Amino acid sequence: RWDNSAMSITYNDAEGIAAMRVAGRLGSEVLDYLTPFIQPGITTNEIDRLAAEYMVEQGTTSATVGYMGASSVPFPKSLCTSVNHVVCHGIPNDKPLKKGDVMNIDVTVVKDGWFGDNSRMFVIGDASIAARRLCALTYEAMWHGILQVRPGAHLGDVGHAIQKFAEGHGFSVVREFCGHGVGRHFHEDPQVLHYGRPGTLEELKPGMIFTIEPMINAGKRDIKEDARGGQYDGWTIVTRDHSLSAQWEHSVLVTETGYEVLTLSAASPAPPPFVTATKT
Ligand code: MF3
Ligand code: CO
Ligand code: CO
Repeated sequence: RWDNSAMSITYNDAEGIAAMRVAGRLGSEVLDYLTPFIQPGITTNEIDRLAAEYMVEQGTTSATVGYMGASSVPFPKSLCTSVNHVVCHGIPNDKPLKKGDVMNIDVTVVKDGWFGDNSRMFVIGDASIAARRLCALTYEAMWHGILQVRPGAHLGDVGHAIQKFAEGHGFSVVREFCGHGVGRHFHEDPQVLHYGRPGTLEELKPGMIFTIEPMINAGKRDIKEDARGGQYDGWTIVTRDHSLSAQWEHSVLVTETGYEVLTLSAASPAPPPFVTATKT
């Protein structure tokens, strides 16, 4: 859990859904805006600055600046940048990106009190075939999860689809972090595990909105807090074996008949070929 407050699942009405469509699109547009800047030599702090300025133009705020979650240290930046073996919650810094790096940028905006949470992988210059494959297959893993979303399905179906696909390709699924309900709060119930058994856990019902955000490792699934230079920053999570890790994230609505991906915009990466619709 991200905090200790009691929470229950929200079933959004038409007004909430409309607001979440806007927040989701705006969150995605931050990633669209950043994309052309993601080149060898740029620092993650420069990316953070660009995003912060863009959010002002959008009339959004960042959900991550000052966010505490379960940490004892407030998150200091407007987005998370998780490079190579960093699994999640990387803090932007002054180190330039270099050719061959892969990086997740995770953006959560707040618009009129509603949260739009999404992330994408970026490949810097030409990365290795192994690195590009991990990014591409993690994207497919997320979509396999999304395709399970419909009323009557269970969260275990979502987790199982992701786990089966990722492990089938020889990768591993991080267990300690999960997707989450999202709406008027950053992290709501339910927890959305990226592994599991079909037919288990919460039944999906129309109006639910949650993220699907698998963290997939090229090596073993074990993670640890980063302690570079003998110092913990309170946030950065890395793979224990220092293998590469990838993550993608969408916020998804359960519709009357299936799913609707909310975190889409003009420059969103196309879904994989096996996906026929972003809304069903
Ligand atoms: N956006 C992340 C998520 O998908 C959470 C980041 S919290 C932060 O849930 F504090 F690390 F930014
Ligand atoms: Co996120
Ligand atoms: Co999230």
